[in-house]
Parts: sequence; structure tokens; C-alpha cells
Amino acid sequence: KPLVFSGVQPTGNLHLGNYLGAIRKFVALQENNDCIYCVVDLHSITAQLVHEDLKGQIRSIAAAFIASGIDPNKHIVFNQSAVPQHAELAWIFNCVARIGWMNRMTQFKDKAGKDRENASLGLLAYPSLMAADILVYRATHVPVGDDQKQHLELTRDIAQKFNIDFMEHIRSAGYGVDMVVGEEPIHAYFPPVEPLIGGATPRVMSLRDGTKKMSKSDPSDLSRVNLMDDAETISKKIRKAKTDPDALPSEVDGLKGRPEADNLVGIYAALSDKTKEQVLAEFGGQQFSVFKPALVDLAVEVLSPITAEMRRLMGDTAHIDAILRDGGERARARAEKTMREVREIIGFLQ
Ligand code: TYM
Repeated sequence: KPLVFSGVQPTGNLHLGNYLGAIRKFVALQENNDCIYCVVDLHSITAQLVHEDLKGQIRSIAAAFIASGIDPNKHIVFNQSAVPQHAELAWIFNCVARIGWMNRMTQFKDKAGKDRENASLGLLAYPSLMAADILVYRATHVPVGDDQKQHLELTRDIAQKFNIDFMEHIRSAGYGVDMVVGEEPIHAYFPPVEPLIGGATPRVMSLRDGTKKMSKSDPSDLSRVNLMDDAETISKKIRKAKTDPDALPSEVDGLKGRPEADNLVGIYAALSDKTKEQVLAEFGGQQFSVFKPALVDLAVEVLSPITAEMRRLMGDTAHIDAILRDGGERARARAEKTMREVREIIGFLQ
């Protein structure tokens, strides 16, 4: 079975972008894959070091995973810091990756802002840890939103450089497989990672501005639907969402140049597991005064059971902690197997 890995940071409220870009896909992938889903707490201290209630944030992401339908018994749900092998492999990848690669990351540029010299070293090395998260399990499929695409390309670059630099060591240690990367036949230890970004909402946009992505850090709470919003709040936010004055088109082509309309149609499609074509076949020619209430009903219908279950789970922290501890143990066993091989390939004494 293909091995799927993905992670979500325990910082701030989860929103519809996180749900449709990532978590809803995690749920769907369980059927035919072996899945590992991680609350990436080590990543959460890169941009902001001190957190008020990090434990609570970690539990709330785990609760969101489970409330959305992830089965922690059949698959693995855990928090990153419980498996120190992530940090160990990240260190090795820090020595594989080049500073120039990290400097080119748009997320680093965005998060570091103008005062780049003053950003944490961890923020710069963030993608090394992300590559380690995935490759410490030698996972091949990674469901994420479009904003993580560049990080996954870097993950491929790190894997490839490791494979090439250590090719003879990998061979003589008896690990790895022959494969072709691009045109080149190599003997590789780490597999190439494939991002799973498709669907109707690779990038859910702000409800206030269809050209900006929906984000935890937007100062306006009206710009996003949070997973913990009640029905009334969801309704208010969607009714107030920015739109243009025209009716919906009947073809997807007609959404070009209409980012807000495109976004709302995409959200409707993703929430109903339909394509945008199907949504427009139903709503083409209708005004937003008709479409928005339908979207409110759909969003409330999909999200309110998840919100309710999240609240219930959050009331039983011992239960969540037990799930994370069990997931951590299983993840650690797998990660340690890889690390024993990696230490051997590099030539550390063990
Ligand atoms: P994070 O915590 O910022 O976001 C979690 C997931 O939500 C997706 N996402 C979106 N998708 C569509 N539209 C949006 N507006 C939107 N906003 C967020 C993100 O793409 C992500 O999939 N670096 C990652 C966490 C991470 C990770 C990993 C992911 C750490 N290690 C290994 C995959 C594999 C991040 O900060 O996601």
C-alpha cells in the first residue's frame, strides 16, 4: 500500500482552507493507503517561540483529525516532538540542503518579513524538518494545499542530493533500490515524494479578497470560516463574503477573472465532493442571493458535526493524549528503523 504522510501546525484556529486543502483529503486517502498524520509541534516554534497553550493547540489538531473521520487505530496520529528521529534526520538534511535553496522559499520570505536577519534559524531550516517528517517514513504521497508545493519540491531535491551523494554508501550498506529519476538511473534510498494537491480547492481564498489565500494570520476573522465557528457565525461570514454583482456562469471558463465567485464555487464543490462543472450545472444563471444561502446550508451541514465532535473530544484530554501516545510509539518504531539505516549509510558508529 502507498504510504501517505502529512502534517498540520498547532498554531491558531483551523479554518476551511486547512480542512478542504488538507484534512478532508487525509480522510479520503485512508481507504487505500497506509497513512501517517502528524501534529507538527516542532514546526510551530519556528515563527513564534513561546505559546500560551501549546498542549491545548496540539490536542485541538488531533481532535480535528479524529472528528473529521481519521481512524487513529487503522492509521497513525501523533505529535512530531514525540518522535525525536524527525529532528535527527532534519539535522542531517540541514547538512545536505544548501542555504541558497532555503533562501528561495517564498514562505520563508513571507514569514520572515523585512527583518530577515532577525528571523529564527529554525524558520530558515523549516523545509529541512518538513522533508525529514516525510522521509523518515520514506512516505511517497503527501496531501497538502497549494501553498506547500514549493516545500515539497525542495523535499525532492533533498532526497535526490542525499541519494546521489551517498549512492556508493547506500549500495555497499545493501539498502536502497535502482530507479530512474528524470533520465538518470540511480541507486536511491529515499523515494521521490509526490504532492497530492488537486481537487476543487487547492487554494481556498479569503472571503474578503479572492486574490489572497485564506489564512490563520489574516487580521480579519471575517476572511475565514473557522472549524470551531457555530452555524450563525458561518452564515454571517458567507453572507458577508465579497462577490461581484453578476450571476454565476454556467461554464467554469466564466469564472476567469472572478476570483471571489471562483472561490465560493470551489468551496461548494469541495464540500459536496462535486466538480465545479457540476456545481455550475446546478447554479449557473443564479444570483449570489440564491447561491450563498445554499452554500451556508451545505457548510453548516458538513462542519457542524465535526465541530460538535471536536468539542466533545476536547473535553476528554486523557483520551486524546492516549491516542497521541499510542500513535507516537508506532511512529517511533518505524522512524527508528529508517534512522538506523541512515546512520549506517552516513557512517556513524552505532
Ligand atoms: P499548515 O499548518 O500551515 O497548514 C495545514 C495544511 O492546510 C493547508 N492549507 C490550505 N489549503 C488550501 N487553502 C488554504 N487557504 C490553505 N491554508 C492552509 C496547507 O497547505 C497544509 O496542507 N508546513 C506545513 C505543515 C507540515 C507538513 C509536513 C505538511 C510540516 N511537515 C510534512 C506535509 C508534510 C504547514 O505549515 O501547514
